[in-house]
Amino acid sequence: MDVLAATTDAPLATGADTVVIGLFEGEGIAHDVEGGALQALVEAGEAKPGFRKLALWHAEGVRWLVVGLGAREAFDPERARVAAAVAHGRARELGARRVCWEVPHKVTDAHVAALVEGTVMAGYRYTAWKSAADDEDGAGLEWLVLSAHHDVDEASRRGAAAGRAANAARDLQNAPANEMTPTRLAERAREIEGVSVSVMGRAELVEAGMGAFAAVAQGTEEEPQLITIRYDGPGATGPLLGFVGKAVTFDSGGISIKPGAKMSEMKFDMSGGAAVLAATEAIAGEQLPVRLIAVIGATENLPSGRAYKPGDILRASNGVTIEVINTDAEGRLVLADCLAHAVREGAERLVDVATLTGAITSALGSTYAGIVSDDDDWCARVEAAGRASGEIVWRLPLHPEYADLIKSRYADIMNAVESRKAGSITAAEFLNRFTGGVPWAHLDIAGTAWDTGRAYAPKAGNGMATRLLLELARAHAA
Ligand code: BES
Ligand code: MN
Ligand code: ZN
Repeated sequence: MDVLAATTDAPLATGADTVVIGLFEGEGIAHDVEGGALQALVEAGEAKPGFRKLALWHAEGVRWLVVGLGAREAFDPERARVAAAVAHGRARELGARRVCWEVPHKVTDAHVAALVEGTVMAGYRYTAWKSAADDEDGAGLEWLVLSAHHDVDEASRRGAAAGRAANAARDLQNAPANEMTPTRLAERAREIEGVSVSVMGRAELVEAGMGAFAAVAQGTEEEPQLITIRYDGPGATGPLLGFVGKAVTFDSGGISIKPGAKMSEMKFDMSGGAAVLAATEAIAGEQLPVRLIAVIGATENLPSGRAYKPGDILRASNGVTIEVINTDAEGRLVLADCLAHAVREGAERLVDVATLTGAITSALGSTYAGIVSDDDDWCARVEAAGRASGEIVWRLPLHPEYADLIKSRYADIMNAVESRKAGSITAAEFLNRFTGGVPWAHLDIAGTAWDTGRAYAPKAGNGMATRLLLELARAHAA
C-alpha cells in the first residue's frame, strides 16, 4: 500500500473510492455530502460516535465510512491507530482500493501520523509461504491519502515510515526459523543502506572471549552471528546510542528442553533483534542526526552432543563468570556479551530489547512491556518513547536483594534462580552486570511481541519495540 503525499484538496478530489470520516461524541459531520445524508445518518442513530463504531453510506460515486472516535478528550494517538485499523478492516472487506481519510479538525500531528501508522500496520499480511491468495481477504489497498485543511504531509510521512518499519520487523519475526537463521538475519542487516555492518561468527566469538554467547551457540550447527550495525547521522551531536537485540532464531530450551506445547512460537525469540534491525533501517532511512551502534545477537538454542549443559561455568567477555543453572535462560547469556561489546564499542546510552522471560507475561500480560533501568533520566526517555509510539512500558525495580538472588556458589553469578522469584527482575539484574555503568534500559517484550490482539496487530509477530526505538532516536535527534 502506498501512502500518497497528503493533500489540502477535498476528499472527493483525490480519486479515492472510499472516504473515511471520524465522528466525535457531541459533534456533527464536519463536511457532509450533498443533501446532508451523513448528518442524517448520525441523527437517525445509524452512524454512532462511540469509539470504533462504523456506518457506511454511498453518495457522489464513492463509499463513505463514518468511524466513531469517542470523546474528543479521550482521543489519543493510540485511539487514532485503532480507529484507522478498524476503518481499514471494513474498507478492505468492502473491496476498497483507494482510501482517503478526512483528518478531523483540531487534532495534532501525532494523531495524523497515528492514523497513517495504524492503516499501514493494519494492511500487513504475512503471505510469503501461502501458495494461493485468500479470496475472502481481497486485494488490499492500493493507496491511502490524508486530506486536511492544513499541511499534514510531514506527519503523514512519519506515520508511514514508522508503520513500514514495524511491518519490516514483522516479516523477520513471522518467517520460520528454518528460513530466518542467524546467517539470513545478518544478510538482511547487510541490505540496510547508509550504515556499516560487521559480523562475527563462531570462531570470532570464541576468539573474542565471548564465552557466554558462544556457549549458547554450541549446540547448533547453524553459525551464530553477532551483528554490529553502525550509523553515523549527518550533524549528530548527542551521545552514542547503543541498541542491543536478542535474536535467538529458535529457542528449544537446549538441554533444559521446553515442553512441546507452543514450542513453535519460539521462532519469535528473535523479536528483539528484529526490532533493533528494523528501527536501525528506519533511522538510517530518515537520515536522523544521531549516532547509533546496533548489536544483534543471533543464534539458535538447541540440544545436542555438543550443547552446553546445566552446571557448566562460562566466562563472558568482560571477565564475569557464570554458572549455568538452566540452558533455557539463554537470552541473558547472549545479551551479556552483546551488551559488553556495545560498551567496548563506545555506546553511551543503552537499550536492550529481548523476549527474555515468561514471567513478564505473568506480571504485565500483553499490554505493557517490562522496563528495568539503572538510570531514572534515561528510563524516563524510553518510557516517553513508549507512550508516544503506543508501545507502552511499565517499570520494574532493581534492588540489591534481587542482585543477591543470582549469586552463584561456584562462579560470580548464575543464569537462573531455582526459586523463580522475581523472574523478570533477576534476569535484568543479570544483564546489569554487563552494562559497564553506562545508562541502560532493558525492555522485556516476551508478553507483547506477538498475538497481542491490538486492532492494528491482531495476530502473529507485531513488530514490538520497533516504533519505540525509532521514536527514541527521533527524540534524541531533536
Ligand atoms: N525465550 C524465553 C522466554 C519466553 C517464554 C518468551 C515464553 C516468550 C514466551 C527465554 O529464553 C526463557 O526460556 N526464559 C526462561 C528463563 C528461566 C529458565 C529462568 C523462562 O522464562 O522460563
Ligand atoms: Mn529460553
Ligand atoms: Zn529465549
